[in-house]
Amino acid sequence: MNLVFLGPPGAGKGTLAGLAAPYLNIPHISTGAIFRKAIAAGTQLGIRIKANIDAGGLVDDPTTIKLVSERLTLDDAKKGYILDGFPRDIVQAKALDTFSKVDKVIDFDIDDDGVLARLAGRRVCRKCGFNWHITFNPPKIANICDKCGGEVYIRDDDKKESVKKRLEVYRKVTAPLIAYYRGKGILVNIDSRGGIEPIFAAFKRIF
Ligand code: AP5
Ligand code: MG
Repeated sequence: MNLVFLGPPGAGKGTLAGLAAPYLNIPHISTGAIFRKAIAAGTQLGIRIKANIDAGGLVDDPTTIKLVSERLTLDDAKKGYILDGFPRDIVQAKALDTFSKVDKVIDFDIDDDGVLARLAGRRVCRKCGFNWHITFNPPKIANICDKCGGEVYIRDDDKKESVKKRLEVYRKVTAPLIAYYRGKGILVNIDSRGGIEPIFAAFKRIF
């Protein structure tokens, strides 16, 4: 099953993908997580994209498309995948059509207040990347990841100004993908306003 998770920043794409990928036994491929890893490792790519990501802008299409097209050739993606955060504009969506066939696109529906509450309290594990939330899903010991003992931190792009920019970018260049995939008849909507468990239950009902 080849899946795309679409939705605004903070909609819960990464959180649900963390549950859905082991459930379906397919890899969770998050372009944002790959970029954050490159930044943390100080690679050439990471150095080049850091300022733009921190400010809430997008990485350029050729870089992102190359990265995903190469990632999808790896063995684990042969049985399917969850793409989280890709495609993010129409150029990327059309490129994806040339190297893979998407079966379903899950569109996460949430209003701006919900997004702001989620991003304001998000804490991410530096080691395993798990998304905690100080109110909705806190680690047992403050600032320490329950899953791997890593340190949890606030993403640089979760600052107020960057979140505003990310929402603007989403509305302008990513939201049109909803109509693109609806037109192909493969769009499924998930109401992402509830808690994590009911959303996962709704997801499981799709399959
Ligand atoms: P990316 O990492 O993809 O960020 P995003 O799309 O803005 O999405 P987020 O990760 O912020 O939100 P999410 O929907 O995963 O929510 P989460 O599950 O964490 O991209 C980052 C940057 O990389 C981009 O801005 C861009 O610069 C670049 N980039 C990435 N892909 C690109 C591409 N294709 N092209 C160009 N550039 C690209 O949940 C949020 C919080 O809410 C968490 O704290 C979580 O614990 C909590 N939560 C989640 N679900 C629930 C729930 N149901 N109830 C209560 N709390 C919940
Ligand atoms: Mg995410």
